[in-house]
Amino acid sequence: MDHFAYRDGVLFAEDVPLPLIAEEVGTPVYVYSRATLERHARVFTEGLADVPKKLIAFAVKSNPNLAVLNVLQRAGFGADVVSGGELRRALAAGMAPEMIVFSGVGKTRAELQLGLDERIGQFNIESREEGRELAELAAERGERAPACLRINPDVDAKTHAKISTGKAENKFGIPLVHAREAYAELAALEGLDLRGVAVHIGSQLSDLEPLETAFGKIGELVEDLRAAGHTVTHVDLGGGLGVPYKAGETMPSPAEYGEMVARVTRDWGVHLTFEPGRVIAGNAGVLLTRVVRVKRGGNGPPFVIVDAAMNDLARPALYGAWHDFDAVEPTGERMTANIVGPICETGDTFARDRECDALQSGDLAVFRTAGAYGATMASSYNSRGFVAEVLVDGDRYAVVADRIDAGAIMDAERVPDWL
Ligand code: LLP
Repeated sequence: MDHFAYRDGVLFAEDVPLPLIAEEVGTPVYVYSRATLERHARVFTEGLADVPKKLIAFAVKSNPNLAVLNVLQRAGFGADVVSGGELRRALAAGMAPEMIVFSGVGKTRAELQLGLDERIGQFNIESREEGRELAELAAERGERAPACLRINPDVDAKTHAKISTGKAENKFGIPLVHAREAYAELAALEGLDLRGVAVHIGSQLSDLEPLETAFGKIGELVEDLRAAGHTVTHVDLGGGLGVPYKAGETMPSPAEYGEMVARVTRDWGVHLTFEPGRVIAGNAGVLLTRVVRVKRGGNGPPFVIVDAAMNDLARPALYGAWHDFDAVEPTGERMTANIVGPICETGDTFARDRECDALQSGDLAVFRTAGAYGATMASSYNSRGFVAEVLVDGDRYAVVADRIDAGAIMDAERVPDWL
């Protein structure tokens, strides 16, 4: 459920009409709803009511906007970060260092140092090599870095190949077959407080079964590690819960997910960490865009050319992803159209042969479910600059990320005087 709804024929974000934001901030612009973020945070937390010891660490990669992070920090969330930049953002948004988990397969030495400097709660180590390096850096300071070993369980998440992370051929984690050996080596290192394992098999999961299979394997591993004399107090179960991108589509609910987790982990006796991203932020945002013009098609439907493009919302071009597309002030008439952006490649297509509200030049429309992996994946391709972001709260709104125009980006470049 979200707080983007029509009132008297006009689409509102909470109590703010979207045409007002388009007029005052311009388009394209991402619009987030605070009430929706808070609702999703609450529903996810309530879903895990039967899990006694836990940390919910929002996957910052899904929406790193400082205001969004601040809302989630107030909701009691920590952060799952994958770069020094995300770590700085989480801290700047007020997240407590001990509630920050640092994941990622390619953390640099400088990033590991930053994590130690900031005394973050947990490093999720993705290889023996990384574990040794972290142990060495911590030992130099006379410290022990709190860490979990990320396991690759070789489970098919049954999602898009580009966002699947738990198959043996993926770059993530330590293969389950090597986990016991790797754990024993790293647990013995002076500079590491190796206290458990982590797993994340992919994103936009529409079925709980692969998750349950992966968690089952992790449960067996925890037993084996304990039998081998290790103390295991923490398990990180990652993120991955899918969201509906099409009206009427259903996904496993946080309550169903929580019930499964509570059942599978009942006897583990560990502190659990969760790293949800999309399920919190996805439906809390839309990309508001204006139709530049409607162009007659060749032998197919017309092209509705909008002022947003693949540089602002990359998901359709990258993954063939579907985003519902609705007029802000629908007339009741419908059309079939190819929805495209202005960028000079055919990949800049949001939807083909889409049945949608009838639109004409100057009309406003939204791509829904754009709050996760939207603005954060933007680029400035075609020198279009970076899109602005707005947060709505009841009947007020604020610009929470300025539009960065092509000129500002150009200002960071120079032609050397020897040219
Ligand atoms: N934890 C780890 C270690 C991850 O790699 C990810 C996502 C998450 C948590 C959060 O997953 P979520 O709950 O949001 O599914 N750009 C793609 C999604 C990439 C996800 C990468 N990792 C997209 O637009 O669909």
